[in-house]
Amino acid sequence: MPITPATLSQTDDGTPYAPVYNDVYHSRAGALAQARHVFLGGNDLPARWASRDHFVIVETGFGLGLNFLATWFAWREQPEAARCRRLHFVSVEKHPLRQDDLKRLLTPYRGELPAALVEALTRQWPMLAEGTHRLEFEQGRVILTLILGEAETTIAQVSGRADAIYLDGFSPAKNPAIWSDAVCEALAKLSGTGTTLSTWSVNGALRRRLHACGFDWTLQPGFAQKREMLTAAFRERRPHPYPGISAGHALIIGAGLAGTATAERLSARGWRCTIVDSGRLAGGASGNQAGVIRPLPSVDDNILSRLTRAGFLSTLHRLQQLEEQGLPVQWDACGVLHLARDDAQAMAMQQAVATLGLPNRLLTWLAQDAASDKAGLSVTAGGWWFAAGGWVNPSDYCAQLLKASGATLLEHTYVESLQPTTTGWAAVDTQGRRVAEAEIVVLANATDAPRLAEPYSQALPIRAARGQTTVMTSPPAPAPTSVLCRNGYWTPAMDGLSTCGASFVVDDTNLELRAAEHAENLATIRGMVSDTDANWPEADHPDLTGKVGLRPVVPDRLPLVGQLPANENAAVASRSRTARARVPGLYVNSGFGARGILFATLCAELLASQIAGEPLPLPKDLVRAIDPMRYAHKKF
Ligand SMILES: Cc1cc2nc3c(=O)[nH]c(=O)nc-3n(C[C@H](O)[C@H](O)[C@H](O)COP(=O)(O)OP(=O)(O)OC[C@H]3O[C@@H](n4cnc5c(N)ncnc54)[C@H](O)[C@@H]3O)c2cc1C
Ligand SMILES: C[S@@+](CC[C@H](N)C(=O)[O-])C[C@H]1O[C@@H](n2cnc3c(N)ncnc32)[C@H](O)[C@@H]1O
Repeated sequence: MPITPATLSQTDDGTPYAPVYNDVYHSRAGALAQARHVFLGGNDLPARWASRDHFVIVETGFGLGLNFLATWFAWREQPEAARCRRLHFVSVEKHPLRQDDLKRLLTPYRGELPAALVEALTRQWPMLAEGTHRLEFEQGRVILTLILGEAETTIAQVSGRADAIYLDGFSPAKNPAIWSDAVCEALAKLSGTGTTLSTWSVNGALRRRLHACGFDWTLQPGFAQKREMLTAAFRERRPHPYPGISAGHALIIGAGLAGTATAERLSARGWRCTIVDSGRLAGGASGNQAGVIRPLPSVDDNILSRLTRAGFLSTLHRLQQLEEQGLPVQWDACGVLHLARDDAQAMAMQQAVATLGLPNRLLTWLAQDAASDKAGLSVTAGGWWFAAGGWVNPSDYCAQLLKASGATLLEHTYVESLQPTTTGWAAVDTQGRRVAEAEIVVLANATDAPRLAEPYSQALPIRAARGQTTVMTSPPAPAPTSVLCRNGYWTPAMDGLSTCGASFVVDDTNLELRAAEHAENLATIRGMVSDTDANWPEADHPDLTGKVGLRPVVPDRLPLVGQLPANENAAVASRSRTARARVPGLYVNSGFGARGILFATLCAELLASQIAGEPLPLPKDLVRAIDPMRYAHKKF
């Protein structure tokens, strides 16, 4: 469903007002004071988050983000010892503000709140696309998971455990959907031992609903002119569905995009990481000069469409975060054009643009002439235009992720096997020596992951798909000014070299460059332009270079991310109460296929969140779609 941004107005006294709901965004007596009294005070915060590893707040109705900002400010004001290490704020919003409106409405709060907080929130404000957006502040210690969509459907897709809940829709009489049975039931599913809730509303139907869902409520003195407000505690004792493990030492096999992104995300949560690679950093599939980042839309916004959109936004966020940390990655948001194959596909692509209603920076349609302008070459068709997309140098991305992680990298160390130890896992080399030991191990070793996962490899149907890029000197060879895609891709020149590709040969593990695949790549890009006088090199031209890599591909072309499922007879099967047993301390982050640049940081953030027992950066259905459990009982 396309997102409709908020239409705004203000009352005579300047309080933000939503004409659609005929209600104000917050008490006229002051938003921050209301937040402190009703939401922080009503959940006994900040006292309750003291010395916790992480603390999770779930809110209905993000609005102007003033509850979030007040909560973040309260966290920031406290000494380290008195606050949680990481504060998670998960909030759902159906009608988000446009970035300019948010900036304008938050301007009066600079002063009451540190300007840096307001600026950071407005700077990171996401493109208004349906789905889960994760924003990081305070070097990743304050994490906002902003879910754009309808509360009833989206909260049911949140996984994990809420410590505190802020109920903050417009008034129940004017905005019943956000206080509905379904919303309360979904919130109850996120609740357990110790979960509390508060709201300014004392609506009778809401009280009955909350009670029926498992919350014992009490009336408390309200804020300003409101006599009363509601606080509640979840009555059942219910353990966390995935409690997480405290940060320790993690062993990661593989120093490509999967391994370095995993190390970076785990280290952000306090893990010390050791990466072991049989070759060198980015020496495998992640060693190309340039690859493309862009989502893959579909008219029905299917799993791949939503996952690639999440991966795309997450990659843009990580590239921005790395830059802010002084670790800029070589990349360019030059835009990506995906040309239509034929008229039928052109129609389908335009239909997808209209149906999805995504922001222009994320997806638009360009007719042939406009597309040619963007490409700087005469292209043969119109196509999708991803204005925020571009090319990334994956090996540089790996290098910056590694630096950000502070991980130790052991190069030229082949891991022959993994052995369970009394405290975790050990990596053993071909001589039988233990080269590294840690509490957990993450398989990020691409096509070799199934071998190393024995006897738990059933859930890892990874095969190798050979791919060769072709790198041309531009000029004299032509190069577009934005990335061009159809059956392959072609990047603008970077340091005088333009990359195109890539061949795709399943189960071929040969790593030699082939003239036939250069010819295939060149034919693909020539088919995208009508420039007949361009100076195209021959496929066997001695100046043509390229790189061959083996993509780790899975039958459903989706990644494999999560804890490994155990076999029925496995000696070390977890005794956890989750539906099916998993192998303690053994995780995988792989199966990225042809989209590793796009998926790496999203999948790493998911895995690190799962390991820590934190809210996940994706809705449940997408988490399930990439869980290795999906293959645990299938035959191949
Ligand atoms: C030609 C080509 C073009 C591509 N274009 C794009 C693109 O445009 N956009 C995009 O998003 N993606 C693209 N991809 C896909 C992307 O590059 C891959 O999905 C990604 O690199 C996979 O990363 P990885 O870390 O899983 O694997 P790798 O980078 O292969 O890393 C795995 C590492 O594990 C190590 N290893 C394996 N076994 C062991 C062992 N037993 N002990 C120790 N170390 C071990 C290897 O040495 C290797 O360094 C392309 C891939 C190719 C090949
Ligand atoms: C009172 S305002 C929230 C104020 C906000 N908590 C703050 O701190 O600024 C209520 C918000 O709920 C959102 N909302 C209303 N109905 C919704 C629904 N069904 N699903 C999700 N969000 C909804 C509105 O768009 C609005 O932004």
